[in-house]
Formats: sequence, structure tokens, C-alpha cells
Amino acid sequence: MNLLTADLAAHDITMLGQVRVHGPQAFENMRKIGAISAGALDMLAEKIIPGITTDEIDRLVYDYALAHDCLPATLHYRGYRHSCCTSVNHVVCHGIPGDRTLRDGDIVNVDVTLIKDGWHGDTNRMYFVGKVNRKAERLCEITYEAMMRGIAAVKPGATLGDVGHAIQEYAESERCSIVREFCGHGIGRVFHDIPNVLHYGRPGEGMALHEGMCFTVEPMVNLGKAAVKILNDGWTAVTRDRSLSAQFEHTIGVTATGAEIFTKSPKGLDHPPYA
Ligand code: MF3
Ligand code: CO
Ligand code: CO
Repeated sequence: MNLLTADLAAHDITMLGQVRVHGPQAFENMRKIGAISAGALDMLAEKIIPGITTDEIDRLVYDYALAHDCLPATLHYRGYRHSCCTSVNHVVCHGIPGDRTLRDGDIVNVDVTLIKDGWHGDTNRMYFVGKVNRKAERLCEITYEAMMRGIAAVKPGATLGDVGHAIQEYAESERCSIVREFCGHGIGRVFHDIPNVLHYGRPGEGMALHEGMCFTVEPMVNLGKAAVKILNDGWTAVTRDRSLSAQFEHTIGVTATGAEIFTKSPKGLDHPPYA
């Protein structure tokens, strides 16, 4: 047994071709970090109100991580210097925390990835700042439902194309569009692992799913057109037409019969409104 194989075995991981497959002990670790990561988003539910800045949200996540013996995976990741991403209104993803004050009517996504003992839990949710209008509320409902339909398609023998198709078909049936430039990803002891998990696709296409695979499902859905651009900061992705965008993300594992969601909210706060 070489060193790499020994390390994998120590963590209850085996290789299926290029893809890591997680055993019961690895699932237990994913369950633990998943619940802690989801707990960070739960903690924010009552804090995100008009007047808070995105920097303050970032600080709350940082303090939460340390208090739970975790590190934020995004801190110093590829030059990123924050503990979470905060994406407001027409920001699609990777919004950088800063001095922006959130106002009544804004919608904001907070994306948190925590690491404990080398295991990653990656999850994001939308928050309503004060009272938001019906079209923002509806976009968030559609995006959450799209993610959950993707997860519902997960089981051994299904393909990644089945998952992407379930998400795309639903979002487009609601006259929304799916962002193509960003996707879900394998996760476990690696933050962004293979496979890429596209949020669009055709039934039966793409990699077949096997029990023990762990990955994220994290569709970004726009009220307008799908096109995005990256701002000069090199991170912030926005809709080209400035239409509202929403996202939800869970980290999941493939079980014998379906999917286990590791990042379900311990407090039942999986989607807004939280009050
Ligand atoms: N958490 C994001 C994801 O879902 C990745 C953020 S990377 C960052 O994969 F550097 F932008 F923070
Ligand atoms: Co992710
Ligand atoms: Co994420």
C-alpha cells in the first residue's frame, strides 16, 4: 500500500477511477462538518437585518468558525481574504464582504465553507433584508426548489445529467435562467474536487453516481438572462442585465437509495423567511 492509499484508507475513502468514494466513517465526519457549517448560516438568520454591513457578516462567520474549532476554507484560498462570500441582489456569487450596508428590500446570499480536521462543509442560503418584494421572494423560492429537485434526482445509477436536467427544467419552466459559468463540485477532504456538477444537462448524460460520492449542488438562478460578467476585483460575478440572482447550496452524499444532505439546517431554517 503506498502512502496515498494509506491516507485514503485512514479516512475511509476509496477510489473509483478518479473519483473518491466515502465509507461510513467518512460520512460521519461529513455529517459533523455539514451540521456545523449549516449552523453558521442559522446563526446569521437573526443578524441579517437592515443596517448590517457585509463585513460584519464576514466577522460573525469568522468568529463562529473559531468558536467551533473550524477554519473558513475561503480564507487565503486562491488569494481570497474573507471567511464567506456575500452576494447582494444582482451579484450571482463570490461577492466580497466590505463596507456595503444592507438595506430594506435587498436579498443577500451568504456562502460558507468550514473545515474541521480536514473535512469540508460547503453551504449557502439566501436572506431577506427586511421586507422584500414579491419577485425577489419568488426567485428565492424557485432557486431553493430547483436545488431540492436536483438533489431528489441523486441516487446510485442516476447520472449528473439527470441532476442538472431536473434543476434546469424546473427553473426554466418558471421563466428563470440557469447560470452556466459556475457549478457544484466534489467535496470531502478536498474543497473543490471532481466531478463538476453542472446545473443544466440532459437525462442519462454525464458521470454515473455511486454510493459514497460526495458533492455540492448549488444552482445560481437569474430572473433575467443567464449571462454573467466578473467585476475588476477578479471575484464578483454579476448578471450582465443587472437582473436579480439567487443561489442555494447543500453538500450531499450519495446513499444506497438516494442522497443524504449533510448541510441541512439544524434549526429548520433552510430557506427564508426566517422570522
Ligand atoms: N463556497 C464557494 C463554493 O460553493 C467557493 C467560494 S471560493 C471563494 O464553491 F474564494 F470565492 F471564496
Ligand atoms: Co461549493
Ligand atoms: Co459554497
